[in-house]
Amino acid sequence: MSDYLGSKKTGGSDETNRRRPLDDVGPVRAGESPVDVINRLLEAATGNDPLRFDLLRLRRQIQEQELTVAEARAAIEKMDNVIKKVTAPANRIGTFLGFPKPGLAHVAVAGHDYFTNVDPRLDTGALKIGARVLVNEAYVVVGDLGYDHSGPVGKVMDAMPDGRLRIGQEHGLPSAIVQRSSDLANANLKQGDEVRVDPAFRVAIEQLQSSQQREYYLEEIPQLPWAKIGGQQKAISAIQDAIELPLLYPDLFERFRYAQPKGFLLHGPPGCGKTLIGKATAYNLTRKLREKSGRDTKECFMHVKGPEILNMWVGESERLVREIFSIAREKRQLGFMPFLFIDEAESILGTRRAGRYSNILSTLVPMFCSEMDGIESLHDVVIILASNRADLIDPAILRPGRIDRKIRVNRPDKPGARDVFGIYLTDDLPLDDALVKQHGQDHRAAVESLMDAVGNALFAHKETNRFLEVTLRSGRKDILYRGDLVSGAIIASIVERAKEMAIKRSIATGKDQGVSLADMLQALDLEYAENDIFPPTDVTEDWLMLLDYDPENVVKVSPIRQLAPARGKGLGGSI
Ligand SMILES: Nc1ncnc2c1ncn2[C@@H]1O[C@H](COP(=O)(O)OP(=O)(O)OP(=O)(O)O)[C@@H](O)[C@H]1O
Ligand SMILES: [Mg+2]
Repeated sequence: MSDYLGSKKTGGSDETNRRRPLDDVGPVRAGESPVDVINRLLEAATGNDPLRFDLLRLRRQIQEQELTVAEARAAIEKMDNVIKKVTAPANRIGTFLGFPKPGLAHVAVAGHDYFTNVDPRLDTGALKIGARVLVNEAYVVVGDLGYDHSGPVGKVMDAMPDGRLRIGQEHGLPSAIVQRSSDLANANLKQGDEVRVDPAFRVAIEQLQSSQQREYYLEEIPQLPWAKIGGQQKAISAIQDAIELPLLYPDLFERFRYAQPKGFLLHGPPGCGKTLIGKATAYNLTRKLREKSGRDTKECFMHVKGPEILNMWVGESERLVREIFSIAREKRQLGFMPFLFIDEAESILGTRRAGRYSNILSTLVPMFCSEMDGIESLHDVVIILASNRADLIDPAILRPGRIDRKIRVNRPDKPGARDVFGIYLTDDLPLDDALVKQHGQDHRAAVESLMDAVGNALFAHKETNRFLEVTLRSGRKDILYRGDLVSGAIIASIVERAKEMAIKRSIATGKDQGVSLADMLQALDLEYAENDIFPPTDVTEDWLMLLDYDPENVVKVSPIRQLAPARGKGLGGSI
């Protein structure tokens, strides 16, 4: 061991060892730890060398100290991190607007725009336009927070060809041009769609689903050829002249510079087929257009019920009207032929008389007019208004160039009523055996006889048919009979009641039974006694709505109550 430092292993010659002072140990071997040195010395020491015990102890001490140092270092590092964290300045949040150059980000922070660097550790490929980003005190983008989940909502007023959007806000706030977020880059945004915008109002982030509300007006129309409407030939011809011909022969009308209407008003007493005629117009016209153009034009019937538009929230009714027109225009662009049917039109388009809704009406009527003026002609949208009180509709709506065709849907007269009975008494309807037998098993002849008999019963000027007494200002008293107050709806209901009777009889007897004349006549009586089209009270005002009289000339209307007919066994109520 004594010659250890001078041994060959140190790599020095005897000469150099001799000249070197004892504490000059030379350079530490690379990668050699104190423990390694001790290990080497232990190898060199012979088994009974007394130094060996000291070396082993020294090695243990060094190992224990090394462990303590490592633990202390870790604790310091942890402390350092904590100190760094709690003393670091807060990061601001900005909106990422894009990469004008590779590696250079455009962000908006608190109303100011910056071109800034991006922390290279950030995955720039995943950064979405419109996302919130963290920027440090040097405005370097250091974090990606994704899209915000809240923020203002605006409505697309225009989708520009370059992808930018013009967003409008309600109640006259200024509109703004915004860009699309990465997620909306290819979205099919249209005028009227609602989008959520980032709080800085720079990027449209998300399209809001309001489609449920928008589809709400759209109604399927059943197959409704004109033949399914009875006794309204005059109204139907008027519609065909006013709407069908200009649509089917546009060139001819253009040559004559004929001012085409944009729609028409159907007016008349309740239950006479205004809504039915509106739907049939959509069905028949679209079918004809399809045949003529060979293109697959689809009908689109928007059924808007006036009172549903009235809304207590300021501006909400106006928003609905704008939305309705915007849906109609949109549907046109998609290849549909939109029919905008506004039922009970007087409720929203009434004269701006004083009343509960006068505030709303005073803005709705001008807005409706301007929306209507924005429609070129009925080649875009056909507007159909329906009302029982056409006299209440604001004249501005009915001006030439707007809805200047008024088509009256009258109560059916006797032949008209027969027509309507014919529509509901179909050839496949099970008839009473005795009735068919009476007509030599000719089912058709039996149906015709029912139509005649019930028509005669309905229109007879007999005592039991007296229905109303109208006292006029002149002192004259008019008696109105059941036939004077009949409507398509009443006729349809009479037939339904008669069918119910036959069905119940079949159930009661266990045998197939058909509709008989007695059923029809009893149903007629019941209908006039129970129909809820007729006002339940004697209030003259209510009854005047059903009559053709000028209210000015009428002093009093008194219903002549017939005693309700005794009901047949088990015939009450409906099925
Ligand atoms: N001319 C008619 N031909 C066949 N059915 C008719 C006719 N008129 C009315 N009906 C029947 O009466 C029902 C009600 O008619 P509709 O809803 O069209 O009346 P309306 O004039 O719109 O009444 P309201 O003023 O109460 O809205 C129809 O669904 C149909 O079954
Ligand atoms: Mg109706």
